[in-house]
Amino acid sequence: MAFFEREWINELLSKVDIADVISEYITVENKGGKLWACCPFHGEKTPSFWVQKDKQIYYCFGCHESGNVISFVMHMDNLTFPETVEKLAQKVNMPIPENTGNKNYKKDKERLNSIYEINKKTGLYFYCNLHDEKGKKAASYLKNRGLDEKTIKKFGLGYSHDEWTGLVDYLNKEGYDKKIAKDAGLCQVKNDRVYDAFRNRIMFPIFDIYSNVIGFGGRIMDDSVPKYLNTSDTFAFNKRKNVYGLNFVKGIKGLQSVVLVEGYMDVISLYSKGIINAVATLGTALTKEQAVLIKRFVPLVYIAYDGDKAGQKATLKAIDILDTVGLETRVIKFEEGLDPDDYIKKRGYEAFVRLAKSAYTSVSFKLNKLAEGYDLSNSTDKAKYIVECSKILKGLINPIEREQYIANLSKITGYSIQSIKDQIVSKDKVAIDGNNRYKVEEKKDDNLDISLLEMRMAEYFLNFPKKIGQYDFEKIARYLKNDVIKKLLLLIYSYSKKGILLTYAEILSELDEQDRTIVGGIISKTDKEKVKNIDIDHIFEEFERKSINDKIEELYKNYETSEEKDIVLAKISELKKELHKKKKKPNDGR
Ligand code: CTP
Ligand code: MN
Repeated sequence: MAFFEREWINELLSKVDIADVISEYITVENKGGKLWACCPFHGEKTPSFWVQKDKQIYYCFGCHESGNVISFVMHMDNLTFPETVEKLAQKVNMPIPENTGNKNYKKDKERLNSIYEINKKTGLYFYCNLHDEKGKKAASYLKNRGLDEKTIKKFGLGYSHDEWTGLVDYLNKEGYDKKIAKDAGLCQVKNDRVYDAFRNRIMFPIFDIYSNVIGFGGRIMDDSVPKYLNTSDTFAFNKRKNVYGLNFVKGIKGLQSVVLVEGYMDVISLYSKGIINAVATLGTALTKEQAVLIKRFVPLVYIAYDGDKAGQKATLKAIDILDTVGLETRVIKFEEGLDPDDYIKKRGYEAFVRLAKSAYTSVSFKLNKLAEGYDLSNSTDKAKYIVECSKILKGLINPIEREQYIANLSKITGYSIQSIKDQIVSKDKVAIDGNNRYKVEEKKDDNLDISLLEMRMAEYFLNFPKKIGQYDFEKIARYLKNDVIKKLLLLIYSYSKKGILLTYAEILSELDEQDRTIVGGIISKTDKEKVKNIDIDHIFEEFERKSINDKIEELYKNYETSEEKDIVLAKISELKKELHKKKKKPNDGR
């Protein structure tokens, strides 16, 4: 919210209709007055994405994504908040505030553009270096690695001279400000001396999906370390948010999948041998942001990480991340010691394609990996193995697919198909269990376990935000164990105190993505009619009773080990009396 006044944002939210905007992106069906679509944020074939026109929010029952029209467009178009707001404002002919809120936005945009520009200039400089006298060694290095001129040009590869101020001098001569060069991470300053950040390295420009040059990776040409040096994070460059090569790959006609590799050289080498849809992370493990970015262009990812232990471990992590954003995964496995670049050079294009065709599904890869940890000729190990496999298979929705894995496991282990099936269903739990705990679907994080009382309180104040101002927030907060609910109620409270009653869409725009999924879920599932019947005083009493009960339980727990048992008992009886006084009043006929 940093760049625009909130009143202005609220006006925008009131003018743009979420249903109109969403149906420009995906097919929305009207089923009995409710709008449903297949969720664009995870893969699905039957709609569980609910567009709520009355509340101006969306919620997906499958992946729990939730938000308002702004977050929707941000995700779909991969835009920043200000870019999204600008786009929506144009749509409804709302002028962008000239001199108040968006000063920073303009400044930021200018700053970004000047980094892009200086990076582009620098990229060209590096590229030229590769072709001059001093760049001969670098040019022959690339040639030795099997890259031809066409590939070098396509990826804009270059060379940074073995000099301290080659680039700095060049940029200076071309009239660029040192400040911008530093801002872009191209040079460093020490004791008032400015010198190049990259020296004597093969240079790989790193592009964002719009083909802006956002940073560089530089590889040393011998065995010294570090092998790669990357632009440190700058205003324009964040290695966790960008995917190398995606700008090229996204333009391929009929693109169905990408091959995800670990290194720049893998992307480039595969390209030069005919595999033109490879992309890479930027020296970190795959992040959710990167997965979401990839998902915008393809439904399927072939993970092709290095054949060593680290690569295989990273594969397991990547599978999980790709899975959470709804991308389908296959795993291409190379023999130990080879990376995609090595492999295609050694065995060629045809072999690579064959390997991809017979790639593991993510489940079979996981099951295979798991098997490596057990001795399947030992019956105890075998039993443990099946238990772990069942956990993986439990997540599989497709029964036919599940069946195939079970049959295979039965073959390997000798367990009957039925016993494996029994194992799989043995721990399935229902959403609401006897303990009065309400789970917001099955997200694994314990934090999401919200007690029924907290849930009712949240629902109540979401619907009657005015009422919350009558209470002391300290008192409310004392009862709340769940941080998201606490944040939500504090938000409603602080606005209510100022006399502002937030709409649901506004509430969601104040929360970060994680919290938004939870709050969006609560808002979406709340039945207004039922909320009217919530007796908030009663909820407070229940909280009070619960907190006394908790104290009693705590005392009982310590009783055995306590040295002053009498005192503990006295305290317990005191609390019990107090509890008795607060005994549920008979229903007053409501
Ligand atoms: N990387 C890095 N810093 C390093 C080493 C690696 O940032 N010191 C990142 C780079 O993005 C690199 C990727 O990790 O592209 C993969 O590293 P590695 O497998 O070691 O290199 P290769 O891609 O095999 O590069 P090459 O074939 O040139 O050795
Ligand atoms: Mn390599």
